[in-house]
Amino acid sequence: MTRNANDARLLTPGPLTTSQETKEVMLHDWGSRDSDFIEINRRIRMQLLKIASAEASHVCVPLQGSGTFVVEAALGTLIPRDGKALILVNGAYGKRIAKILDYLNREYLVHETAEDTTPVLSRLDSTLAGDSKISHVVVVHCETTSGILNPIGEIADIVARHARSLLIDAMSAFGAIPMEANQIRFDAVMASSNKCLEGIPGMGFALIRKDVLERSQGNAHSLSLDLYEQWKNMEATSQWRFTPPTHVIVAFDKALQQFHEEGGVGGRNERYSENCRILIDGMAKLGFETLLSSDLQAPIIVTFKMPEDPKFDFNEFYDRVKDKGFVLYPGKLTVAPSFRIGCIGHLFPEDMREAVEAVEATMKEIGVESGKPSSS
Ligand SMILES: Cc1ncc(COP(=O)(O)O)c(C=O)c1O
Repeated sequence: MTRNANDARLLTPGPLTTSQETKEVMLHDWGSRDSDFIEINRRIRMQLLKIASAEASHVCVPLQGSGTFVVEAALGTLIPRDGKALILVNGAYGKRIAKILDYLNREYLVHETAEDTTPVLSRLDSTLAGDSKISHVVVVHCETTSGILNPIGEIADIVARHARSLLIDAMSAFGAIPMEANQIRFDAVMASSNKCLEGIPGMGFALIRKDVLERSQGNAHSLSLDLYEQWKNMEATSQWRFTPPTHVIVAFDKALQQFHEEGGVGGRNERYSENCRILIDGMAKLGFETLLSSDLQAPIIVTFKMPEDPKFDFNEFYDRVKDKGFVLYPGKLTVAPSFRIGCIGHLFPEDMREAVEAVEATMKEIGVESGKPSSS
């Protein structure tokens, strides 16, 4: 598995670096009604369910578009118009869920914690106990804003104890952090082709509990984002309702093949964890500090606090690291000035070592001796 050596390595939360094989498989055209193409779709949907051990309980509904499209589609399809959601927010993607529900005109409550703090479980428990109108709890698995891993198992247990419906935005975690339907009770998990599964961007999917989806007819506010109709049509015809992103789908199939060759969730988790460790250790030697303690850090993306040295100008730093072949990710956090470096995509420990070397060389060029932040 190789990548295109001429491309910059993307140390971002997506779009991500993909393998050469995944890109090359797109050099063809497919008819959407062709039996080979239909078989690819069947295979992908089945494999996505298997990744979550959800074949017996859930169905996989794919959707064109970026990750937000499938999040919006799932919320609109699964939360009835008279439903009420409780959203656990600790970053931008949780806030986006609230914004989507504003557009959809669904009632909701927000439990917000800071970007470096997981949801308060006792508060979740007491709110569900005290408000019987809440029908759904919505949470982000890995909040990509900071890289924090939310305690999804504990959240799912509380939501199940109160017999409410749990919807999980697992966009940046699915495929690298276990999400087993027989251990974590969820009604829907949403993710996309281009994060830890290393396909190209362009489609999302939702794994939805079958009997829940069966009861969702007529909820959706939008024709193209109606996952009930998308599913019904796909079951009836084996085809997508509207023009499928054929090249994205075929690339996703290829990416899933490589995912399995690497050992599935276990293999991918191992590589990303190693990537993350090399990054954090290497940056620590240069004085940089992470925002999150190691128990909260998902091996997906790492937030580093901004160095205090006034000579450190992030834009210049970014441009110079990019000249060395690595694309970083600016921060948009409220708790601390920071920037982020991702450890996912078709990148390996050697890439992370070279990334740290690029950071070190850049520090020398701009005359910054240490990445130590002002707060330490
Ligand atoms: C947790 C999470 N949710 C939703 C999204 C939105 O995905 P997209 O930008 O593909 O619409 C992202 C993207 O990074 C994400 O990390």
